Amino acid sequence: MGQSDFQSAVTARYDAPMYRALLEVYGDQIHPGFFETGDEALQPAALKATMALAKLAGIAPGCRILETACGVGGTARYLAATFGATVVATNISRGQLETAAEWSEGRPGADLITYAFADFQDLPFDDAEFDVYWCQDSLLFSPDRGHAMAEAARVLRPGGTVAITDLTVVGEPAGAPAALLAEISEPGFWSLNDYVAGLENAGFVVTAQEDWSRHIVPSFERIRRDVKDKREKLAAYASLADVDDTIERYDLWCEASRTGHLGWAAVVGRKPEE
Ligand SMILES: C[S@@+](CC[C@H](N)C(=O)[O-])C[C@H]1O[C@@H](n2cnc3c(N)ncnc32)[C@H](O)[C@@H]1O
Repeated sequence: MGQSDFQSAVTARYDAPMYRALLEVYGDQIHPGFFETGDEALQPAALKATMALAKLAGIAPGCRILETACGVGGTARYLAATFGATVVATNISRGQLETAAEWSEGRPGADLITYAFADFQDLPFDDAEFDVYWCQDSLLFSPDRGHAMAEAARVLRPGGTVAITDLTVVGEPAGAPAALLAEISEPGFWSLNDYVAGLENAGFVVTAQEDWSRHIVPSFERIRRDVKDKREKLAAYASLADVDDTIERYDLWCEASRTGHLGWAAVVGRKPEE
């Protein structure tokens, strides 16, 4: 089956050599982090966010988790090693799936993780297969988030948990800030309230919602600084032109963060018992 336009757009980005280069900056957590002191390194700060979501979701030892949009498997490795969870970690980037499998070899909990190709818009899993559906900072790519959430509800058992973080729109941007947000995410951002309503529409009871927006400016500034500092090293994977384009892209993310209209949030819900 051929790729849809949105799949092609996502994989063109995440399978490109430049994205492999960016892993030198991100490590294995490809999302913003918790910056409390201002001088944290990105990867441990990002891991703190993953740990915070695991706490909000009440991850139980031995549970069966479906992770969608798993990046290079950093979260899957954390959940398997820390909770003894069985994790089916999925992505539409085949390059990232390969890196994830490679980086998991010999790591604690690796035998509990299965990596598989899956589009979160149309999950190739049976109804009620999982205890937890987990998706970090990726639904912003979804062309139909309502449908992706309905898929989450379908594959969870009654009583199961959905755990999501994502970049959000804050307030009602107009003019230049609105244009900037449209430029950095084509499908458009949802607000935290939209995520809560989306989960409720999919049949979930929302059990936790947290606004993490205060971490967004330091996160994107840190990412941009690290990319600039590692410019020569990253060029060994891609090209200097690609690295410089990426720095320009992060300039836009930093600018969008500073408008106060780009936020970040976590939302957790429970599928009601039948
Ligand atoms: C910003 S990265 C986040 C990766 C990971 N969740 C993390 O936080 O480290 C976005 C991820 O979304 C994936 N993605 C985007 N659209 C997807 C889709 N429709 N189905 C599955 N994965 C998707 C990309 O391939 C990429 O791995």
